[in-house]
Amino acid sequence: MGGNTFGQLFRVSTWGESHGAAIGAVVDGCPPCLPLSEADIQPDLDRRRPGQSRLVSQRKESDTVRILSGVFEGKTLGTPISLLIPNEDMRPGDYREMQEKYRPSHADYTYEAKYGVRDWRGGGRTSARETAGRVAAGAIARKLLAERHGVEIVAWVGKVGRIVAECDVEKVTRAEVDRTPIRCPDLVVAERMIAAVEAARKEGNSLGGAVVCAVRGCPPGWGEPVFDRLEADLARAAMSLPASKGFEIGSGFAGTDLTGLEHNDEFYMDGDRVRTRTNRSGGVQGGISNGETIYFRVAFKPTATILRSQQTVSAGREETTIEGRGRHDPCVLPRAVPMVEAMAALVLADHALRQDAVKPR
Ligand SMILES: Cc1cc2nc3c(=O)[nH]c(=O)nc-3n(C[C@H](O)[C@H](O)[C@H](O)COP(=O)(O)O)c2cc1C
Repeated sequence: MGGNTFGQLFRVSTWGESHGAAIGAVVDGCPPCLPLSEADIQPDLDRRRPGQSRLVSQRKESDTVRILSGVFEGKTLGTPISLLIPNEDMRPGDYREMQEKYRPSHADYTYEAKYGVRDWRGGGRTSARETAGRVAAGAIARKLLAERHGVEIVAWVGKVGRIVAECDVEKVTRAEVDRTPIRCPDLVVAERMIAAVEAARKEGNSLGGAVVCAVRGCPPGWGEPVFDRLEADLARAAMSLPASKGFEIGSGFAGTDLTGLEHNDEFYMDGDRVRTRTNRSGGVQGGISNGETIYFRVAFKPTATILRSQQTVSAGREETTIEGRGRHDPCVLPRAVPMVEAMAALVLADHALRQDAVKPR
């Protein structure tokens, strides 16, 4: 039972439903004496919140975070950090039809099959609103990684529908990502993506795509073979996000088109550092970081809620139709970017602490 806690040493539990009083997280295992305030967390929540542009859900949430525990005089205590984000703009009436009918490709049917009861208001805990807690916790992990280990995490939208951007995983900055509401650093491709999402929205339809995430500055040695290989934990983290449908690291599925001769990353010496000339491994070999940039892709499906009539079944087991209502994201990709970054930060902070236990610095 459960499934709401993530991580071994840097542990995060999230709680809350979409239309309940609040949403939040408890972080246990964050080391003491890390300078921390709400101002370190709020910018990540601001990138995740709805209502940022016409490309995303119009729900109006300020997503203002409060730290309730675990911080004293501006520094972490090493005790549990409790994070609270009140829900402000609830309209449960928009979702009354879902009390009776299962939304196609959403989680109404499966939650009912599992628990025999569900909070149908805005999807309850199946809503992407749950990820506010993860993003808040991820901001703490990100700060720990940046300040104590020099690790930087940047994600962006690399694909919307069939429109693909090829960006340099070594160079993309967060400022470049945030230049457009679609969060694709290639401005020309971004314009095409925006037009595609707006067209889908006007048709009451939705689009999927992929987020690319780069982790730079990770030292060699992080990852715990065999079951907690770094890429296995990253995949688990990414696939725990709502609407995620695929994970690839390094050359991924495309790498299977190459021969070993074409695919191998040859080693060389860069001063006193062991480096690889190419990075098809995506910075991980044998489940352990090799010091190169870790990069991976996460596929997200087209949003389930569409403003079109589709066939479904009611809780009373009758065939019927349903048309999407309520505020929804015509494309989840722009808001998925901070979520993918947060999940990557949680995995890496956990492995940083685990590596300190194996081989103290
Ligand atoms: C950023 C983000 C925003 C989302 N917004 C919506 C939404 O507005 N409407 C919707 O039906 N699903 C939305 N989802 C997806 C649902 O939460 C998800 O499809 C649902 O929980 C079922 O899980 P599954 O798709 O992983 O099977 C969103 C997902 C993400 C990552």
